[in-house]
Amino acid sequence: MDINAIYTQIDLDLQGISSPEGLEQFRLKYLGRKGVVAELTSVIPTLSKEERAAFGKLANALKNKLVSLIEEKEKTLLGSAQENKSSVCDIGMPGIVRELGQLHPLTRITDEICDIFNQLGFSIVEGPEIETEYNNFTGLNIPLEHPSREAFDTFYIKDYAKMLLRSHTSPVQVRAMKSGKPPLAIVVPGRVYRPDAVDASHSFMFHQIEGFMVDKGIKFSDLKGILEIFAKTIFGKDIKMRFRPHFFPFTEPSAEVDISCIICKGKGCSVCGRKGWLEILGSGLIHPNVLKHVGIDAQVYTGFAFGMGVERIAMLKYGINDIRLFFENDLRFLKQF
Ligand code: PHE
Repeated sequence: MDINAIYTQIDLDLQGISSPEGLEQFRLKYLGRKGVVAELTSVIPTLSKEERAAFGKLANALKNKLVSLIEEKEKTLLGSAQENKSSVCDIGMPGIVRELGQLHPLTRITDEICDIFNQLGFSIVEGPEIETEYNNFTGLNIPLEHPSREAFDTFYIKDYAKMLLRSHTSPVQVRAMKSGKPPLAIVVPGRVYRPDAVDASHSFMFHQIEGFMVDKGIKFSDLKGILEIFAKTIFGKDIKMRFRPHFFPFTEPSAEVDISCIICKGKGCSVCGRKGWLEILGSGLIHPNVLKHVGIDAQVYTGFAFGMGVERIAMLKYGINDIRLFFENDLRFLKQF
């Protein structure tokens, strides 16, 4: 048997291999049970003693050579497979687009409103949504017989007597005035809850921003000036404002504040119900009884307070006619802001 011829054949075979399957066939051909090496070894017993040793050596060398050749080829095949993979990458293919999120319109308008007051020197404070009956009503001079205390106007928490979901942000007035001393200038954004049937203008949960200022010599004109800056920044310089007498137990005197209708500019249209005016918030001078409850001397200090519905402000500003749109998470609506 011509061992050199075998080596030449091995070289030729190796050059033709381009896949792992091809290499496996090669391995079987030479190292398999009925392969070339096995065939060679099988003739050993027929040889003379002297020949056996020399032949055995040759066969062994061939076997070792084959093993190392297969290993080498395996490595080159693996390397080119990886190269192939990277050359398959199509750099012209569109990438994965990750859509940019954005703030909810209510968050944006809340930030916008708080920023205005912040720049006027108000600090921003938050309070809990689960409140005591005292902070939500009693401390705010709301008498026991007041209709807003009824179970159909306030969510009471069954197992905790005297606890409720706050129906307005005004209880934070009580908290802040108890824990801090005047001068105080604070705005309070947050959620409030009322058991109203849901429709285009009512939701059992909505957002308010409360604002108040307490110091020596605070007058109604301070309230007026501050609110005018607020309204003109949010709705535009040309809007007009008016204060309409109203009643709140925690302010005296009290007023509701209207702006001239931003749709018809005061002429009267369907949005303002032909009145030419749109109500935007409730306000007044803090009732002396409220100051008394928190231990502030009403003879020395006075203050004003106001409270507005964030949804209402957003609906007026953007011309939205259904409050439910804010809470349905419909991207077609949310993406417009
Ligand atoms: N708390 C009142 C409401 O929810 C609004 C308000 C706040 C009115 C402060 C006057 C002063 O309707």
